[in-house]
Amino acid sequence: MVRLLFALTLTLKIYGTLGANTTIMVHLVQKTFTDQAVNAAAGDVVQFISLNPRSPFRVIQTSFSEPCRPLQNGFDSGSIFGTAPYTVNVTSLDPIWFYEDGLCADGMVGAINAPTTGDTFDAFIAAAWTNYLDVRIRTERRFFAVIHYIYYNIGNLN
Ligand SMILES: *[C@@H]1O[C@H](CO)[C@@H](O)[C@H](O)[C@H]1NC(C)=O
Ligand SMILES: *[C@@H]1O[C@H](CO)[C@@H](O)[C@H](O)[C@H]1NC(C)=O
Repeated sequence: MVRLLFALTLTLKIYGTLGANTTIMVHLVQKTFTDQAVNAAAGDVVQFISLNPRSPFRVIQTSFSEPCRPLQNGFDSGSIFGTAPYTVNVTSLDPIWFYEDGLCADGMVGAINAPTTGDTFDAFIAAAWTNYLDVRIRTERRFFAVIHYIYYNIGNLN
């Protein structure tokens, strides 16, 4: 038995078929991911699993410079119901930025391999807010953007 396990481990090592599996829980009620910033190596998978399986989630890849907007050719989970994991395959150490559809400006954003200097995860969250306001203000919903901003920034200070 021990030998068999050893052989199995060795086989997996040689073929490297199983990368590490990082799980990110999708917490729609608390409008956050746990964890929001993870690291993964090439060949690893990052799986999103819902903590509120009755409401569908939708994770979309975005960019540091334009958070809250889908990245062209980036991943988009579509609506995921239940507890089935959505898998993102990590192929390099390049940063991967993502958000929950509709909750980006609430800070429901995350990153895989965010740099520790420069384009950091904290800078990304701040940019998500700013970008969201820019987009909203450019539309005719100026009024609601201001109310939303006041509600989340001043309201939350109470
Ligand atoms: C990754 O981990 C999650 C949670 O433990 C599990 O549901 C999933 O099946 C795992 N996936 C792989 C590819 O190992
Ligand atoms: C990751 O790889 C698996 C297995 O090849 C595939 O089913 C899945 O669609 C891939 N995920 C993405 C986001 O491309």
